[in-house]
Amino acid sequence: MSATAFFTTTQFLLFFFSVSTIILGDANIQGEVLLPPAQGTEKVSHLHFYFHDSLDGRYSIRIAAAPPSYKSATQFGNARAVDFPLTEGPHPGSKLVGRVQGLYVIASKEEVVLLMDLTYQFYEGKYNGSSISVLGRNAVRSPLREMPVVGGTGLFRLARGYVQAKTYLYNVTNGFAIVEYDAFVMHY
Ligand SMILES: *[C@@H]1O[C@H](CO)[C@@H](O)[C@H](O)[C@H]1NC(C)=O
Ligand SMILES: *[C@@H]1O[C@H](CO)[C@@H](O)[C@H](O)[C@H]1NC(C)=O
Repeated sequence: MSATAFFTTTQFLLFFFSVSTIILGDANIQGEVLLPPAQGTEKVSHLHFYFHDSLDGRYSIRIAAAPPSYKSATQFGNARAVDFPLTEGPHPGSKLVGRVQGLYVIASKEEVVLLMDLTYQFYEGKYNGSSISVLGRNAVRSPLREMPVVGGTGLFRLARGYVQAKTYLYNVTNGFAIVEYDAFVMHY
């Protein structure tokens, strides 16, 4: 499989970007303008990949739990640090295309909802070393979850967008989960 199978980057939308000068009162002071890395247009990339979680310590570990959480059906208040592999296909032996690093907290007393704060670092082709940051609510038992992309680095500088996550496989016995991701990222 080539890198293009993983990153089906399509410039299907073009947004024109104009830089305006900020004039402050009578003093006519020009505000500093942070220019995007490339002039003019914003593109949208669609990234498709799978991530692998496991509660056995292989990819994530519990870093905090307050005593009241021991009695909580949802484990409300538990926090985990994560380092998940990202693969091209759903099989754990599929080509590694990146890693997800960060943390999540169980943020609901009623259902299993995570507040995720994760960086998706990519290894493939021209995206090698670039990353996107995802911050948002993940109701893991919903068939389709959406979380915002709040920024990025490298090719994804000034990124914004969203990811959609679907559980591909979840094993209740060992907590192993494979999640399919589609990320739609606007960047320059
Ligand atoms: C990504 O970059 C690192 C560091 O520059 C390099 O060691 C690695 O071989 C690259 N990976 C790919 C798939 O190009
Ligand atoms: C779920 O995990 C258990 C324990 O590791 C294993 O025996 C079982 O085969 C797994 N089920 C699936 C569908 O992978």
